[in-house]
Amino acid sequence: MPGVSRHSVDRLVRQARHAFDLGIVAVALFPALSEDEKDPEGTESCNPDGLLQRAVRALKRELPDMLVITDVALDPYSSDGHDGLLIDGRIDNDRTLPILASMAVAQAQAGADLVAPSDMMDGRIRAIRTALDAAGFSSVGICSYCVKYASALYGPFRDALDSAPKSGDKRTYQMDPANRRECLREIELDEAEGADILMVKPGLHYLDIVRLVRDQSRLPVAAYHVSGEYAMLKAASAQGWLDYDRSLLETMLCLRRAGADLVFTYAACDVARLLAGTSTASD
Ligand code: PBG
Repeated sequence: MPGVSRHSVDRLVRQARHAFDLGIVAVALFPALSEDEKDPEGTESCNPDGLLQRAVRALKRELPDMLVITDVALDPYSSDGHDGLLIDGRIDNDRTLPILASMAVAQAQAGADLVAPSDMMDGRIRAIRTALDAAGFSSVGICSYCVKYASALYGPFRDALDSAPKSGDKRTYQMDPANRRECLREIELDEAEGADILMVKPGLHYLDIVRLVRDQSRLPVAAYHVSGEYAMLKAASAQGWLDYDRSLLETMLCLRRAGADLVFTYAACDVARLLAGTSTASD
């Protein structure tokens, strides 16, 4: 699918340059690894010459003014497909934290401007902040996936990364879509631990939560227009059932109205073109 697809490092740099020329100043990267590079501890995540680290270096070399955001989570590197370390069939929250901290430092060493932990382990913001500071990266920020629901809408992303869990699901660490108050605790913890931006994910089905976080915190709030949301728009417009351009702009408008200061979306180039008043011709 356009947008939710893989790129080699050279194609990624071309895509990012294209986006930058359209006025998009930040890009979020997620690595797709082959199965033989994965293990239960996600060892490859800390390899200074690993795919993500190489991509960050290439981007910062070619486009120094582009803000590069990197994903901190075990799942792309884990042979179990989970965001946490799986020990005897259960996620071990606390043993995952040092791995996430080392991963964030490896990404900062490669040149990441902002690390974005998407794993939902408790305590990871403090672990990452402490490790970054100790390694001399106090100016590298943390965009916390603070309120991330165990959603069915991540399907196209997991297909693109081949990162679906091999067993079980992510409901022991991602939030229950029925819960609203729980996000207040998540906000308190992440703020106290040193988050710089709070993310709500998914976006559109959770507009009430975006508003709640906006009203509750003084930090910038990001909303993630996730792969399934993007796929619905693409599929319906391919059938001629929806006007892609108008539906997309309405989606972005509503995320902003709900309180998102930033939006992560696969349709960023289309949005930029539409806002500039030129026709879409989607990638
Ligand atoms: C996992 C991660 C996921 C996404 C971003 N990081 C999926 C998951 O939790 O399995 C999903 C993004 C999307 O669907 O667009 N660390």
